[in-house]
Amino acid sequence: MSRILTGIQSTGTPHLGNILGAILPAIEISNDPKNDSFLFIADLHSLTQIKDSEELKRNTYAVAAAWLAFGLDPQKTVFYRQSDVIECTELAWYLNCFYPYQRLKLAHSFKDKSNRLEDVNAGLFVYPMLMAADILLYDADFVPVGKDQLQHLEMTRDVASRINHRYPDLFIVPQPLLKEDTMLIPGTDGEKMSKSRNNIIDIFQSEKEIKKVINKDIITDDIPLEDPKEPGNSTVFKLYELLASSEESKEMARKLKAGGYGWGHAKRELLTLIIEKYKSPREKFNYYMSNKEKLDVILKEGSLKAKEIAQTTLNRLKEKIGY
Ligand code: ADP
Ligand code: TRP
Repeated sequence: MSRILTGIQSTGTPHLGNILGAILPAIEISNDPKNDSFLFIADLHSLTQIKDSEELKRNTYAVAAAWLAFGLDPQKTVFYRQSDVIECTELAWYLNCFYPYQRLKLAHSFKDKSNRLEDVNAGLFVYPMLMAADILLYDADFVPVGKDQLQHLEMTRDVASRINHRYPDLFIVPQPLLKEDTMLIPGTDGEKMSKSRNNIIDIFQSEKEIKKVINKDIITDDIPLEDPKEPGNSTVFKLYELLASSEESKEMARKLKAGGYGWGHAKRELLTLIIEKYKSPREKFNYYMSNKEKLDVILKEGSLKAKEIAQTTLNRLKEKIGY
């Protein structure tokens, strides 16, 4: 049995790219009975960016609701809010004291912003050690991450090895499970879908709002309705293809190539498909967002399980340090 752990930044409602690229593959891994899996919402990390308390809370709930809506099973996965297991901040302090300042300075998350140091808070600087604490507290064997987080994983391994050098076998040195970007979901402008690009499709919005995004934001060419169109060049078709069955995609491609079928028709079909395909997750998401106390109960239960393990690991280290 391998222990797999990962954290999700709570910076907004997950968009279609997050769902197809991260949520669904992770749920598949967590449902594999060979894995013992931990998943948490990194709301302490979010504080480095977001200070508005309503936004912070709403993001956490929206992330939790989205994962549950897509089938995360809290009986199989220890699912919790980082801030509910505050032991991670204590461990982060110890890790800070064992990790060289000079190395922390090399973290991309900090370095990328070092030309605007006035915007950098100290939390952002020690961000990698809080992430290391999240991982080491639970003796995780594997950590699924995207390429952008690999350096943080390297730092986690580094600090764990430094402490193990002093106190042999104290920590499990975790390995990254690199998630290749095999599925790059395009946004409404055809570039990678990303919150920071403002090109997202939020499938949890109302049908009216999604319709507006599809109609207004997805860029199409101005080939006249009656003329044949090349499906492969269009974002509408690419998105449709990602969600539809292969028969449905072939049928749309045929209609586009034949002419007499416009982007407006294709957009309408894309909207219908999104609403139909995600009927159940949309209902569940709305249910949880209108019953946040249910989310609190689920996350609290997860945090109790997590806390027990966290305390054991923390005590293991504290004893060695001499507290
Ligand atoms: P964003 O770029 O919107 O800020 P994040 O960087 O928070 O998204 O990504 C969270 C997770 O979702 C990551 O695992 C990332 O690989 C995945 N992801 C984000 N955008 C896409 C996309 N357009 N296609 C596929 N996966 C994506
Ligand atoms: N830093 C990660 C991200 O931005 C989120 C995160 C926090 C995390 N703690 C973690 C990921 C521990 C994996 C393991 O995506």
